[in-house]
Amino acid sequence: MTYSGKTKVLGIIACPVEHSLSPLIQNYFAGEAGVDSVYVPFRVEPENLGDAVKGLYALNVSGVNVTVPHKQAVIPYLAGTDDTASAIGAVNTLVRVDGGYKGYNTDAEGLLISLKERGVDIAGKNCILIGAGGAARAAAFILAREGAAKIICLNRTLSHAQKLMSDISSRFPAVKTRALPLDAWQDITERDCLAVQTTNVGMSPDVSSSPVEDERFFERLSFAMDIIYTPPQTRFLKLAEAAGVPTGNGLDMLICQGMAAFSLWNPGVALPKEAFDGAKELVKNFPEENA
Ligand code: ATR
Repeated sequence: MTYSGKTKVLGIIACPVEHSLSPLIQNYFAGEAGVDSVYVPFRVEPENLGDAVKGLYALNVSGVNVTVPHKQAVIPYLAGTDDTASAIGAVNTLVRVDGGYKGYNTDAEGLLISLKERGVDIAGKNCILIGAGGAARAAAFILAREGAAKIICLNRTLSHAQKLMSDISSRFPAVKTRALPLDAWQDITERDCLAVQTTNVGMSPDVSSSPVEDERFFERLSFAMDIIYTPPQTRFLKLAEAAGVPTGNGLDMLICQGMAAFSLWNPGVALPKEAFDGAKELVKNFPEENA
């Protein structure tokens, strides 16, 4: 690409930012769609976050992704947040508007798009959510919004699962919820469940762990998704596949959240159909320690 004074500037704010795959993915998307933009990493220390957002605006930056540790902390510095991001309480994409940036949460949309890519329909499904942290909150919101029949939250700390499920029940009264400690998965009598694994158990370098090991757990599933993308094939997903359960992985979600962010920054611009597979090929060939 050649850049000019008209090139739209985008980026990511994070700390650390050196390992982010988003510059690779977003610059690839821009090239594929023929958009004149450039996407760059910005390392922003937590104490500089407010100044950074003001600076991005002053520099006419069109939008940025926001990731660890700024997803919640950035909200007070924004001109607004969309409804999904407000409900989740975290943003990962900022879009320049009059007077500042509006915050969105495309992590949540990424889960939805990647499930759709796999032909998985959330409506009417019994879902098992493993974990009750920030990522679980985003996933629970999307599952409930898309009409899951029931969400069963399994978590190491029961009170965290109870709090998340009670928040979901009050916002989506039609969705049944249940909170269970992680080791009480045998109490789940439902079958054909969609499982979404959101804890960091199994993340590199802890690759030999899974939050649930017992093969009888996987008999309850019709699809398993893990949001971890380092490694893309977690032990949780390997166990699911060994039990014959189809799976989706965190790399799919990472690429799909990027597609959703691209659409927010480039309204009306369609990414070619091959962009998903192309991005997957790109990141697959990237050394894992850089992910
Ligand atoms: P994130 O924003 O990535 O979701 P988080 O908010 O810190 O991160 O949440 C981490 C999740 O992983 C929590 O559900 C946590 O369980 P607790 O609520 O009991 O803390 C879960 N988790 C982290 N380490 C775990 C481990 N070794 N075993 C089981 N669950 C674990």
